[in-house]
Amino acid sequence: MPSSDVPSNWWRTAVIYEIYVRSFADGNGDGEGDLIGLRERLPYLRDLGVDAIWLTPFYRSPMVDGGYDVADYRDVDPLFGTLADFDAMLAAAHALDIRVIVDIVPNHTSSQHPWFTSALTAGPGSLERDRYIFRPASEEPPNDWESIFGGRAWTRTPDGEWYLHLFDPGQPDLNWDNADVRAEFESVLRFWLDRGVDGFRIDVAHGMVKEAGLPSVGHPQQIGLLGREPLPYFDQDGVHEIYRAWRKILDSYPGDRMAVAEAWASTPLRLARYVAPDELHQAFNFDFLAAPWSAAELRATIDACVEAADSVGAPTTWVLSNHDKARHVTRFGSPGIARAAALLMLALPGAAYLYQGEELGLPEVLDLPADARQDPVWHRSGGTDPGRDGCRVPLPWDASLPAYGFSTTGRSWLPQPDWASLAASSQQGVPSSFLELYRTALRLRRTFTGPLTWNDSPTDVLDFSRDGLRCVVNLSGAAVPLPTGSVVLASGDLPDGTLPPDTAVWLR
Ligand code: NOJ
Repeated sequence: MPSSDVPSNWWRTAVIYEIYVRSFADGNGDGEGDLIGLRERLPYLRDLGVDAIWLTPFYRSPMVDGGYDVADYRDVDPLFGTLADFDAMLAAAHALDIRVIVDIVPNHTSSQHPWFTSALTAGPGSLERDRYIFRPASEEPPNDWESIFGGRAWTRTPDGEWYLHLFDPGQPDLNWDNADVRAEFESVLRFWLDRGVDGFRIDVAHGMVKEAGLPSVGHPQQIGLLGREPLPYFDQDGVHEIYRAWRKILDSYPGDRMAVAEAWASTPLRLARYVAPDELHQAFNFDFLAAPWSAAELRATIDACVEAADSVGAPTTWVLSNHDKARHVTRFGSPGIARAAALLMLALPGAAYLYQGEELGLPEVLDLPADARQDPVWHRSGGTDPGRDGCRVPLPWDASLPAYGFSTTGRSWLPQPDWASLAASSQQGVPSSFLELYRTALRLRRTFTGPLTWNDSPTDVLDFSRDGLRCVVNLSGAAVPLPTGSVVLASGDLPDGTLPPDTAVWLR
């Protein structure tokens, strides 16, 4: 934890910046982002004004799913550096008052994890196989469950048994009824807490417990039900017992450590159960990310999420982009809307999660060549689903350098488009740029406190106040009169006392 701080529930209002480590900054010239490169860029994040960073997995991994296939939870993959590089990065971040959250992947391991390789060798009925979800040899798979990445969720081993993988076959699901599994993850949490991390982002936090008997869903296209309808492999009640145990571990450490769940539940109220006072601190709010650019839908989503979080005393969280979703400049189809959406999000009470590059206004890269793509979603769909590589293209730092300064040699594991005008160096100090909008917004948002109250407003205009702030966003197709008050920040021009369409303004 940053040395100057006393415990403060810092996470309740924090801006947390997601770093997809492989694509952030390359310190050794191999074209892959790493921990040394990240450490060198920490001053940029301090100047941006973030409170914390969340690092996607950098553990030993065959990289079948960008590191979400972990072969050793207690070591750094050579692609990203060493444990010493991690410690140096953590110390440097803390010296800048930036907290560090690491990803923990408890639903599945890599198929290269020693537990899984020994389970294959040990054979049917072994204690080793009981750590995973194996089922006896049969012609047909044990049930109709589908992989989130496409295709069925079961793969056969050479001896005929089936094993479950809700994601890639290289990511076998763990059996959380097995005591070894529970003990191992508690030990892994302690390993990173002892090193000084400030918290965890929990991958597939809704997935570890499966419905008893593994019943079939009964129909295909199950991924379409994610976050909407109950599924026998997600959001089972038994998962909460795990988080109650984890919360005790977090609370036993000094310094206000926290955990945020990547949880998909069928309603905001079911999601709120993950952030009960004796469980996790936060859960991502994917309803906000998924909401269309519509005043009615955004207001309904904001109200439902605030109400659900309030019901358990947890802060809401807001997110517009991450490493799994098309970047929101492209989703909304307009940089102007993306700027307005950012001011909306950053004015809301609670914590906000940014994804690297959104502060530069980066779009999704839609035209990556097929042979460059690495996402298993692309491969498992036979190329019909572009997958998530388009939001993972390495960042442009400096317009005048090869690979825009991402690496010292100009190499980049995914090709970058012409991003000279979007590079950080091109935006720095330019008042109308995305980067300066985000910097100013992050500085100002610290002065807003208190809950949100909606003001009367014209149709399709969102207008709310908090202590120190009024935020007005025009989602109607036409200009509206600018409300009275002094403008402290706007996402675009405000001609002749009006608020143009797709523009947001902060007033005092
Ligand atoms: C969610 C992560 O964000 C995603 O990138 C990953 O593929 C899956 N979980 C599986 O671990």
